[in-house]
Amino acid sequence: MPIRILAIESSCDETAAAICVDGAILSNVVATQEVHRNFGGVVPELASRAHMQHVVPVVEQAILKASLSLQQIDAIAYTQSPGLIGSLLVGGQFAKSLSLALHKPLIAVHHMQAHVLANLIEYPSLSFPFLCLTVSGGHTQLVKCESPTDMTVIGETIDDAAGEAFDKTAKLLGLPYPGGPLIDQYAQKGNAARFVFPEPQIADLDFSFSGLKTSILYFLQNAGKSHAYHPEWIASTAEQQAFIQENLEDLCASIQERIVSILLRKLKKAVVTTGIKQIALAGGVAANSGLRRGIEDMAKRYGYHYTIPSLPYCTDNAAMIAITGYHKFLAQQFASLETPSSARAT
Ligand code: KG4
Ligand code: ZN
Repeated sequence: MPIRILAIESSCDETAAAICVDGAILSNVVATQEVHRNFGGVVPELASRAHMQHVVPVVEQAILKASLSLQQIDAIAYTQSPGLIGSLLVGGQFAKSLSLALHKPLIAVHHMQAHVLANLIEYPSLSFPFLCLTVSGGHTQLVKCESPTDMTVIGETIDDAAGEAFDKTAKLLGLPYPGGPLIDQYAQKGNAARFVFPEPQIADLDFSFSGLKTSILYFLQNAGKSHAYHPEWIASTAEQQAFIQENLEDLCASIQERIVSILLRKLKKAVVTTGIKQIALAGGVAANSGLRRGIEDMAKRYGYHYTIPSLPYCTDNAAMIAITGYHKFLAQQFASLETPSSARAT
């Protein structure tokens, strides 16, 4: 009998649902919340309300696209942690209601584990163990993955995530939220060697990005001849704005170059430390063209094998929750209706 999983993702600002049958994704529907654009970041209260509006139509579409009925579903998987608690509760309570109404088991999924397993969607025969660099707006982790249900975090950021580093420096350049994709876009036409930003010296396999943001802030202030420090600084004088305008492509290319080099240096260190040469990339920042190219080059140079999910499986989506749900189903790892949602990783 095939195993059919309905998955719901609602950890941040995307309401998503997907259907997976025996590990193959039949539908993957995402409703992006545009409401946050004007606020420079995700507003938790607005995100919860938007999930309430989107969850029913998104689940209906996922079922319809997979040409299934709700009654044919064998289990319901949902994102249980980590994320915005109000957002998690909407998807979680909806999944529990379905589980109760349909008398089908419930599967609680860890969002970060799901980002890693997104690699199995297009590479189902990916061999274990592998190392995954998971880079998103909220997390930056190096994960040693022994099996779909056995993962260990061997390094992570001690302050900002890589996505935050992109978004916060983009904000300094006056770019709208989320600035990561825009930095990527401008960087393609820029000279990455033009400005050299410092690389933090952090021990072991951990990362740090907050110092980079501060050094870029000081650099821009000096370039614009202003020394007034403010944590929420944005280019305010005509000179500062003109400097950014004239150098935007080179600034973006140089910032991206530094963020990518920090990530790749630790990934290479993780390969050397563990001896595992199968590497994977995951999370929204995996969409970054400089990072994708960097991984390819590194793999070719040192003889590593690598996988990078295609873009819809890098950013937040429910297909990754579904594939994780499928493997948890095989391992008979079910959740009770009392399982609490958790903002923090548990
Ligand atoms: O995984 P994700 O979709 O959501 C979280 O769970 O956080 O990641 C979103 C992050 C944002 O910080 C966004 O700016 C970044 O991924 N991002 C990018 C690119 N596309 C998305 N950063 C750099 N270059 C990109 N092309
Ligand atoms: Zn994510």
